[in-house]
Amino acid sequence: MSRCILVLPGDGVGPEIIAEALKVLAATETRFQLGLTVQEGLIGGASIDVHGVPLTNETLAQAAQVDAVLLGAVGGYQWESLDIAIRPEKGLLGLRAGLDLFANLRPAILYPQLASASTLKPEIVAGLDIMIVRELTGGIYFGQPRGIRVCDDGQREGFNTLVYSEAEIERIGRVAFTTAQRRQGRLCSVDKANVLEVTELWREVMTNLGREYPDVELSHMYVDNAAMQLVRAPKQFDVMVTTNMFGDILSDCASMLTGSIGMLPSASLNAAGQGMYEPIHGSAPDIAGQGIANPLATILSVAMMLRHSLASADAAVAIETAVATVLDSGLRTADIVSDGTEQVTTAEMGDAVAAAIRKQ
Ligand code: IPM
Ligand code: MG
Repeated sequence: MSRCILVLPGDGVGPEIIAEALKVLAATETRFQLGLTVQEGLIGGASIDVHGVPLTNETLAQAAQVDAVLLGAVGGYQWESLDIAIRPEKGLLGLRAGLDLFANLRPAILYPQLASASTLKPEIVAGLDIMIVRELTGGIYFGQPRGIRVCDDGQREGFNTLVYSEAEIERIGRVAFTTAQRRQGRLCSVDKANVLEVTELWREVMTNLGREYPDVELSHMYVDNAAMQLVRAPKQFDVMVTTNMFGDILSDCASMLTGSIGMLPSASLNAAGQGMYEPIHGSAPDIAGQGIANPLATILSVAMMLRHSLASADAAVAIETAVATVLDSGLRTADIVSDGTEQVTTAEMGDAVAAAIRKQ
């Protein structure tokens, strides 16, 4: 069976980290005979420069056809003055919405080798394994009305709408409950139900859903407390489920528990199991082109892609094991380097992971 993936490197460090992910995919392909065809396309600023828009209809249609999309990152200084409606980020949001990728899985796992790279004490983060389930196609990112308007007194005001339907809450809830069933069976739903009606409804729907999953222990937490608990005692969490914006913020926070935001992969899935895979970090234009970006989040995103969209769990494990082997050998990119380890470039890290797969 021929399966096809669409690769969208994007901007900033995107092309550098995707190049390493493709090296690792090629090594995996050779070993496991995956039968993958790889197409490439443009997204974000790279697409704006060629087509004038961050995501063309053709690229969206192409993404809808393939088995999975692998994305680097979007955005950069040169596009920041553009109207918000055609900025690079809109390409990413258009892809998420266009493919209805409502379920965003963001695992925060601490590789034991990186315990000293975390800014938190090793005993706080040792053994950390959290899954953040972020709603990705609703909430304040997409709510209407939105905009900037001029009021009667001549002052401008900006406004966005935070809205969730019961159906939207229920479908992300089901993903979170089933994810918890496959893990330690604990789910923490994060909201701001003490202030926002929309998350009062969120809490009610999650509570009702909980009755269908008696094997999952459901708890609720306000988002401000959740941010605090993530740095105070992160190991209390197994699976967390939350809204689009809260999930954006909490996943950046959780990433630093693992040593670096350069370590966190993600999967964004729709109801048909189609997926887009990307590191959770951005395009980091400040370090682009210097060969110092960490490609491991993207490489680990390839593993998630093989597992969730391409039914190749053994190949996924091979990549994850290879990453552990390389970390064991002491190689580190600049963001995770510490005493007694050896700093390598983006490309050297990719080469090392690919070599570890060939040696397994
Ligand atoms: C993320 C990013 C995006 C988001 C940006 C680039 C639009 O921060 O994937 O977490 O806010 O969702
Ligand atoms: Mg983010």
